[in-house]
Amino acid sequence: MCGIVGYIGEKKSTDVLLDGLSKLEYRGYDSAGVAVLSGDKMEIRKKKGRLKVLGDDLIKMPIEGGMGIGHTRWATHGAPSDENAHPHATASGDIAVVHNGIIENYMKLKDYLGTKGYTFVSQTDTEVIAHLIDHYYEGSLYEAVQEAMKRLEGSYALAVISKKDPDELIAVRKDSPLIIGLGEGENFIASDIPAILAYTRNVYLLNDDEVARVRKDGVDVFDKYGIPVQHDIFKVDWDVEAAEKGGYQHFMIKEIHEEPKALKDTLSPRITKEGEIDLKNLDISHRKIKNIQKIVIVACGTAYHAGLVAKYAFEEKLRIPVEIDIASEYRYRNPIVGPDDLYIIISQSGETADTMAAMRMAKKEGAQILAITNVVGSTLSREADYVMYTWAGPEIAVASTKAYTTQLLCLYLLMLEFGKVRGAIDELDYAAYITELKAIPAKAAEIITEDSIKQIMKSAHKHCTVEDTYFLGRNLDYAVALEGSLKLKEISYIHSEAFPAGELKHGPIALIEDNTLVITIATQERLFEKTVSNIKEVKARGAYVLAITTEKADLIRDLADEIILVPETMNIFMPILSVIPTQLFAYYCSVERGIDVDKPRNLAKSVTVE
Ligand code: F6R
Repeated sequence: MCGIVGYIGEKKSTDVLLDGLSKLEYRGYDSAGVAVLSGDKMEIRKKKGRLKVLGDDLIKMPIEGGMGIGHTRWATHGAPSDENAHPHATASGDIAVVHNGIIENYMKLKDYLGTKGYTFVSQTDTEVIAHLIDHYYEGSLYEAVQEAMKRLEGSYALAVISKKDPDELIAVRKDSPLIIGLGEGENFIASDIPAILAYTRNVYLLNDDEVARVRKDGVDVFDKYGIPVQHDIFKVDWDVEAAEKGGYQHFMIKEIHEEPKALKDTLSPRITKEGEIDLKNLDISHRKIKNIQKIVIVACGTAYHAGLVAKYAFEEKLRIPVEIDIASEYRYRNPIVGPDDLYIIISQSGETADTMAAMRMAKKEGAQILAITNVVGSTLSREADYVMYTWAGPEIAVASTKAYTTQLLCLYLLMLEFGKVRGAIDELDYAAYITELKAIPAKAAEIITEDSIKQIMKSAHKHCTVEDTYFLGRNLDYAVALEGSLKLKEISYIHSEAFPAGELKHGPIALIEDNTLVITIATQERLFEKTVSNIKEVKARGAYVLAITTEKADLIRDLADEIILVPETMNIFMPILSVIPTQLFAYYCSVERGIDVDKPRNLAKSVTVE
């Protein structure tokens, strides 16, 4: 969601800005722009549409200059258009701003600035920031930004430049991610690491309410009171290739192929030679684990679906009550937080606005927060009491795949560790679970072989023109059905819903008619017979049933019109495997329909606004 890049140095800044913005395309956007200090002029170029439109324009009419800011905008206030695209500048063109986030009091500020003679040319909330900084400008851009911040309410990451301060870029972070890349004789600002990784691995991760003065030869960071803040340099330990397609047609398919490795990377360092789980890095005491009265899981989208798997698994194996809530709902109810409740907050990005708000709310009420996130240094990782990383590597495609399966793995590790410490899982079972978990990466790889993929491609080719699809499942299979359905709708635009199979007769069955595609997830042995009844019910109404199931499910295999088999594992771990065919099915449906898989319409990778 929106991307910021800033550069100050000897290079042609538009090259760096465009290159950086192209690495942030995955975040989702609908227009792009740059502002560059060129001699004593501020040049602004911005275009609705893909980055290429802006790039082509800059080829036709290049802008010279070694200091600039760039932006990809995902529209919130005002439709996608050239005028609403960032950067926004003052009428004099002295000051230019790019912004991620939302200014909640922008109408009030707009009225105020109107009384001071400012006029507005866009419908955005961002334009008020440029005018507000101008309003407070008395010779120092840095000081004017600090003053303006006192009036701004909401979430924002900003990059600001001024003609009158040609030697520094100002960067601000409040509830929206921003990093500083440290080079030699040049420095960078960006919303995310991939934007600057081609130039440097040394990064400052700004904290909320910090302001950075970024010059060619150095960076100074201050808190909102103007007091200098020291930052440790964060060294990025992954390569540019990890954030590139590496020969695959899309990031999504590359990331599905990376699942076996991501699972291994997440698991192996946490299993000792003796076959024990080692969560030392988590640093949660046995006393704390024993005292847990209730677990509350809060997340959005795919991460929420991972949480739902955990609810079924934890309640079954640990006998601890587990509540689960969607973050945007949690934050507006009046939750009761007990002193011994453990909150598990799951977020690939660690920056999702609703998830962060829910986490802070729970924390304020005294909850202990355990974060599961993929992004080292993310807001979630910094504010939680305990952090467990999914070591999945950067996930670029909007549709989450390897982050989901590694989130599940982390949740299973927690289940086993908690079960052992609390005496809910005995030693023999514990050892058997670990042996089986160690086999999971190889089993995941079996689903991504050429033959399996060919079968799923054929199936996608056959079904990609349907208008509606319904996913069915019970218990853990229902959690996977929800995730499979989300994946399909977000990247193929096929209308899709998931139902608990037992709920069919209470309404959804009215939707089934001749040739309706019903995708049934059936991996839970004790529920096979129940699922068989549901398959019979929908087939009796004309449905075409595609079952994702295992060798053991003979009856289901006989009944379904089409089956995709997944390798056997313990029932409790099946979601890690059964979800992969749903990811592949969604991917190939999207490709068949000619959709931009990695950047589906209206969606953003990291949803940093409410
Ligand atoms: C779906 C998807 C989204 C995210 C959701 C939460 O494929 O990616 O549903 O899961 O926006 O994002 P994070 O996990 O970054 O908090």
